[in-house]
Amino acid sequence: MYDHLAVVGATGAVGTLILRILEERNVPFKTIKFLASKRSAGNKLLFKGKEYIIEDTTPAAFDGVQLVIASTPDDTARDFVPEARKRVDLIIDESGYWRMNPEVPLVIPEVNPDAALKHKGLISSPNCSTTQLVVAVKPLHDYGKVKRIVVSTYQAVSGAGLVGTRDLLGGAKSYLENDGVDKYEYENFGAPIAFNCLPQIGGVKENGYTSEELKLLYETRKILGDDTIKVCPTAVRVPVANCHSESILVETEKKITADKARELFAAMPGVVVMDDIDKKVYPMPNVCTGRDEVFVGRIREDLSCENGITFWCVSDNLRKGAATNAVQIAELFQK
Ligand code: A2P
Repeated sequence: MYDHLAVVGATGAVGTLILRILEERNVPFKTIKFLASKRSAGNKLLFKGKEYIIEDTTPAAFDGVQLVIASTPDDTARDFVPEARKRVDLIIDESGYWRMNPEVPLVIPEVNPDAALKHKGLISSPNCSTTQLVVAVKPLHDYGKVKRIVVSTYQAVSGAGLVGTRDLLGGAKSYLENDGVDKYEYENFGAPIAFNCLPQIGGVKENGYTSEELKLLYETRKILGDDTIKVCPTAVRVPVANCHSESILVETEKKITADKARELFAAMPGVVVMDDIDKKVYPMPNVCTGRDEVFVGRIREDLSCENGITFWCVSDNLRKGAATNAVQIAELFQK
């Protein structure tokens, strides 16, 4: 149990949600402080009915802190973590910067809590699209050993931070006011996101895959501890405010029927099965937003390979995909 906490990136899309989830789950602490960039230092925020002054993320700000939960851009995490690590017991970092470092456990509490206990002062929380994929795939892997995953994502704009949401609303407004012509100047997206889909998330990496797509490959292998798993990822940004959806095909060594998959999903902590197409029951962003679970539906045996199971998976990318997972990691230690 750590008494003295800090939240870094407390003003961001995920950071503000971390505050709310710490309140909701009543995570224990004696003191807490909130850090962000120089731009926000001196501003006030309200937490558990009390006013706090936001501080700049300097090394000295970590003196006396034991546990840090951080959600910042990657380069900010690259810069502040080494100095903070000298001063605090444990940093839980939501950024992408440290995730693939072999010294740093990459943790989803329902999947690999034991990895967290081996930390050396820093634990990473996975990328949002990886977290829901791995939570859903874990019970199939334990039962039938996963050989291959084909995943296509339909990712909400909230995953791009507050600016992503601003862009969707601005673009949609312009499109509607100008008879289908989008005159909005996008701050974040390279092409109009309103009434459109963008088949690129992140920078271009090897073989034409994007950084977001490669996270689905490498982070999945690291969390499941199995480098033999093959992943074919396609990541797409869609004009949805919040919640990522994924179409997932899993090929296993041992046959898994649709009924067996439903049973395995239902027994997995943190997974909710919504699967009754006749009644139009399946996970959708508008019903999953604001929830902490990973939702699965449209569960079918694959028609194209022998031991394939395919399904649709939706989760709140800001909550389980980011803030909730980071807070759940903290809870492993706050007992
Ligand atoms: P600030 O609001 O002061 O810029 P988002 O993902 O919504 O863009 O949020 C990113 C978070 O990371 C914000 O809290 C932001 O603070 C913080 N941040 C950005 N750059 C830095 C920095 N150089 N040092 C510390 N915090 C930063």
